[in-house]
Amino acid sequence: MFSIMVLFVCALLCAFVCMIVTQITLKRRALRHFSLPPQRNWLLGHMGMMGHDEEGLNRIDTLIGQYFHSCAWFLGPFCNIVRLFHPEHIKSLLSAPASITFKDKIFYGFMKPWLGNCLLLQSGQEWSRHRKLLTPAFHFDILKKYVSVFNQSTNSMLEEWHRILATGQNTLDLFEQMSCLTLDTLLKCTFSCSGHTQGKASQYTAAISELSKLLVQRQHYLPYHWDWLYWRSEQGRRFQKACDVVHAFTASIVQRRRAELSEKKERTGEHLEFTAGYKRKETDLIDLLLLAKASQHGSTSDEKGEGLTNEEIQAHADMFMFAGHDSTTSALSWIFYNLAMNPDHQERCRAEARSLMHGGHTLSWEDLSQLSFTTMCIKESLRLHSPVLALTRFYSQAMSTPGNRIIPPGCLCLISIYGIHRNPIVWTDPLVGSSYMIIL
Ligand code: HEM
Repeated sequence: MFSIMVLFVCALLCAFVCMIVTQITLKRRALRHFSLPPQRNWLLGHMGMMGHDEEGLNRIDTLIGQYFHSCAWFLGPFCNIVRLFHPEHIKSLLSAPASITFKDKIFYGFMKPWLGNCLLLQSGQEWSRHRKLLTPAFHFDILKKYVSVFNQSTNSMLEEWHRILATGQNTLDLFEQMSCLTLDTLLKCTFSCSGHTQGKASQYTAAISELSKLLVQRQHYLPYHWDWLYWRSEQGRRFQKACDVVHAFTASIVQRRRAELSEKKERTGEHLEFTAGYKRKETDLIDLLLLAKASQHGSTSDEKGEGLTNEEIQAHADMFMFAGHDSTTSALSWIFYNLAMNPDHQERCRAEARSLMHGGHTLSWEDLSQLSFTTMCIKESLRLHSPVLALTRFYSQAMSTPGNRIIPPGCLCLISIYGIHRNPIVWTDPLVGSSYMIIL
């Protein structure tokens, strides 16, 4: 009996080893047309070779310098990745139809407990339908009526800086400051409320900051990629607690606003549509999402005429708060860093803004197009220090890239924004602002 058991276990082990060897062979063969950077070893591939720190970014620079457009990357036996860092090589991927394009469950999946079923995490037809419904929220003109909000939030931040300076403190953590600024601005644009004056709102913004930090920490610590372990850890429990705060805040606003909108419709008989709605001065993002439901025609109509449910609106509002806060905080911090490192440019930007403010403290919508040098500096900083370093996608069909290199279905494609922005065959000198003729 014992020897049968031993035989059975040995057979199972052999089958497992055979499965791993077959997987590795098939996965590696599928990407044989792509350059292969040196691996840690045959089994682990490149696992753990790309850090999430400055050293990791330096490694990307090395990869681009050696392979120019793309290379294969293997994370253990099961995960094969194609890293792409040339514009011509990502064209076919970014222009692929939504029906064959999917987001990976790992990195996007970590955001799911917080952001729910939002646009950022959706794929395929579901993404197409929601993207159509959200089109008004992405309209360039929508920013016009937010300019006063931007002025207001910036001026309250500057007042706070004056107050801090008066106490004798002359250093500040800029990233923290930018985080407060963007959260305050987004609270006003999304929910028409301010973090400075409302207790629940500041509890909410603290929870968003906490969630953003915990998300990065989870990505960087491999054992926490395993749900079972994460939700039992101290970090996982903190994440859940912060999610509860965020969800309760958003849900209460969405429910109240929907009730108010229905009540207004009944009282006035007014049929609100987003087209009329978003031009109205007082409309915020929640109104836009609620009104998207009412639309039955035009490019933003929903074929089913169903609009968005409360849960969907909550998910999209949470997404706007995350996507709008995290990226702009990082972008602004890098812009100020780069300007501080280049005092001549900083002085020129300051003079440009001052010449438009005429001694006041605000800029108008029209002024923004006059800030040509400042705009160049912002764009150059975004190129050199992109807040989002990469996108990942996989496709249900084989995808062709130049040189007839085929990416097999299901293979993860890592589109390196950082790599494209620093590729020496795209930019004559990547660390010099060639397109705008400025040096940061
Ligand atoms: C410097 C600022 C910003 C940068 C660099 C940036 C970058 C990006 C990138 C790279 C994506 C694609 C992500 C992916 O598909 O995996 C994205 C998506 C998105 N961003 Fe931003 N973003 C910025 C500001 C904002 C702001 C201010 C908002 C809203 C308030 C916003 C809302 C969104 C949304 C809703 C999506 C999902 C779009 C979709 O899937 O159709 N972003 N952003």
